[in-house]
Amino acid sequence: MNSFKKFFFVLLLVVLPSFVYPQNPCIIPDPVKFELKAGSFEINENTVISANCEEAFNDAVIFKKYIKDLYGLNLRLENSRRRSNCIYIEYVVRADIPEGSYELNVNQFGVEISGMTYYHGLQSLKQMILKAKGTLIVPNLYILDYPRYSYRGMHLDVCRHFFPKDFVKRYIDFLAMYKMNYFHWHLTDDQAWRIEIKKYPKLTEIGAWRKGVLTGRYKDVSRATDTVNYGGYFTQDDVREIVKYAEERHITVIPEIEMPGHSLAALTGYPEYSCTGGPFEVAREWGVFDDIFCPKEETFKFLEDVLSEVAELFPGRYIHIGGDEAPKDRWKNCKHCQELIKKEGLKDEHELQSYFIKRIEKFLNSKGKAIIGWDEILDGGLAPNATVMSWRGTEGGIEAAKQNHNVIMTPGEYCYFDHYQSDPRNEPIAIGGYTTLEKVYSFEPTPKELTEEQQKYILGAQANVWTEYIIEPMNVEYMVFPRICALSEVLWTPAGKKNNTDFKDRLKSHFKLLDLLKINYSKAVYDLSVKYSQPIDKKGIGIEVNAPFSNSEIYYTTDGSEPDLKSIKYSGIFSVLNSCTIKTAYFENGNKQGNTFVQEFNINLATGQNITLVTQPRKRYSVGGAFSLVDGITGRLPWSGRDWLGFLGDDLNATIELKQAEEISKVVVDVLNSEQNWIYLPKEIEVFVSTDGIKFESVKKVEWNYINKYERSVELTFDKVKTKYVKVIARNFGKIPAGNPGEGTDAWLFVDEISIE
Ligand code: ACM
Ligand code: ZN
Repeated sequence: MNSFKKFFFVLLLVVLPSFVYPQNPCIIPDPVKFELKAGSFEINENTVISANCEEAFNDAVIFKKYIKDLYGLNLRLENSRRRSNCIYIEYVVRADIPEGSYELNVNQFGVEISGMTYYHGLQSLKQMILKAKGTLIVPNLYILDYPRYSYRGMHLDVCRHFFPKDFVKRYIDFLAMYKMNYFHWHLTDDQAWRIEIKKYPKLTEIGAWRKGVLTGRYKDVSRATDTVNYGGYFTQDDVREIVKYAEERHITVIPEIEMPGHSLAALTGYPEYSCTGGPFEVAREWGVFDDIFCPKEETFKFLEDVLSEVAELFPGRYIHIGGDEAPKDRWKNCKHCQELIKKEGLKDEHELQSYFIKRIEKFLNSKGKAIIGWDEILDGGLAPNATVMSWRGTEGGIEAAKQNHNVIMTPGEYCYFDHYQSDPRNEPIAIGGYTTLEKVYSFEPTPKELTEEQQKYILGAQANVWTEYIIEPMNVEYMVFPRICALSEVLWTPAGKKNNTDFKDRLKSHFKLLDLLKINYSKAVYDLSVKYSQPIDKKGIGIEVNAPFSNSEIYYTTDGSEPDLKSIKYSGIFSVLNSCTIKTAYFENGNKQGNTFVQEFNINLATGQNITLVTQPRKRYSVGGAFSLVDGITGRLPWSGRDWLGFLGDDLNATIELKQAEEISKVVVDVLNSEQNWIYLPKEIEVFVSTDGIKFESVKKVEWNYINKYERSVELTFDKVKTKYVKVIARNFGKIPAGNPGEGTDAWLFVDEISIE
């Protein structure tokens, strides 16, 4: 550098503003390589955005609009690159960086994004932009970034509830923001058919509308429905518009057309494609319905016509054909179906479903399309080229990968965003389940059970958003955010770089952007984690509270009042000696964050005492272990698996050792009745007492007949007896009777608190 240039350069450094970036820079998903540098770049009204080709220029236009909408700043769009104050996008094949990666450089002169996936770089840039003292700044940095998995998806059910075109586009924006590349659009189901098919107008004229809907919970006994005509659908023009919108954001739309099950809305318009001929009604309730497509030639003709129109509308490679939850009752009793089974030499109705799917696959393959199906398409044999979406756990995916089939993981436990994400008492009504942010973050899509070769069949994962209880767009946002952030990191960030603490810290900063975008997100990440333990002196129950972030303050009350900065300050584990309600909350800089944690305690002779079990509960339903039976907390409803111990086919056989011999006359056992979920009340409950813990004597027994079918607290009273040991045996119901969900299999027994008075 000659001295003149040097002088000029130094001058530039001095006169160019360099604002200090006011927070920890955060990008979600966390990039592969990220180097923060000193200084920053200011985006102002003179900043130019330009690109090296038409394709990238389209992205520049979208970026310009984003900046205008969000910050009111009008960037200049130009074809040629400027030396300074320029955001330059270069769509280029580069041999010097890994395939599918982008590189992002920021210095005080501008931003340069280059690579085949430059558009992911734009998303990273968007997340880094911060408004500080009225100025938009980006810290100087270097990023080299590429995804871990090739399939990164989000699903949306627009059948159970309808979401308008504009929201679907906003949803697609969310996917783009987190570098996802597939939008799985669930368009047909029992409760609606939502895509216009020109050749079969009744699909939407009739199938897109239902005459009412469940007003309460699915599990309610009453099953009340309203009588509001509800519906809507997407015209083919709407579909084209959405597909184009997604394409411009580098997202492929996968339409799902369900078959042979979940087809009641279609059959309502065209009952001739069922086994019985109908008539039918578009479903008003949730669940699984017996009437499904009958594999007649006319039905295949109909489905092929429908799929031909669908294939035209969606340029992507995949069409999802459903395949899940298709009861075989109708096929068993249908003359045509039984003859077809014989004619084709099939073993049973499962092989008939496999025959059905294989035929559809052959047709779609001939149109240049590949099928995806839910893991039930494994039953009766996989179609030769099918990709399996594993939703009932990861087992189906493992099996498919072993058969050399591609797999997309969507196990309910980690990937169902219709589940609760926080304490159900603080949450809007949901279908059930419990899938916290942390749980999503902990998901590992590639099962260890697979060999390295088989692992290559795991294309990636996706989250599913079923909308039985998700009614408005803002409810969708609440269920999706911020769990989508965690999922994006599961799918993008190298496994070795994932770090839940670091993720949560970045998320906290990221919330500012979500606020700016007016996204309705859950604040469950601020939930306190509360643990219960046996106090050393076995008096009452010990309570330990942990905050999700460091440098925080926790306050609590024991009188039911709302905690504030004047309440008792938490300084470590404490004991609750008498029945009461504990309320505790978390504060940062004097401001309460998240929900107040509320827990009622029923302190009795059993609380906090030693307890032993002869048979252990199943691992999935043993949170808190045996101690959760004597922690003073009654299991919560609606049942979501927490607080309860679940025994499959086994009895509960628990012995509680009291601190000292006491006179007792009552034992209360909390059991659960939820036959929908294969959970049955015990056949009988018996209480025994003992002074030495060896010789037990029965003091009371209640049998099934004496128990009100829906009662959950079973009281066993008896004459006063002095005892040190109390044994409770709740005998499992046994096999589930015919005609009930799960018939013929072992019943679950769910037990929570055991109280002694
Ligand atoms: C599903 O949740 N039935 C795929
Ligand atoms: Zn049939």
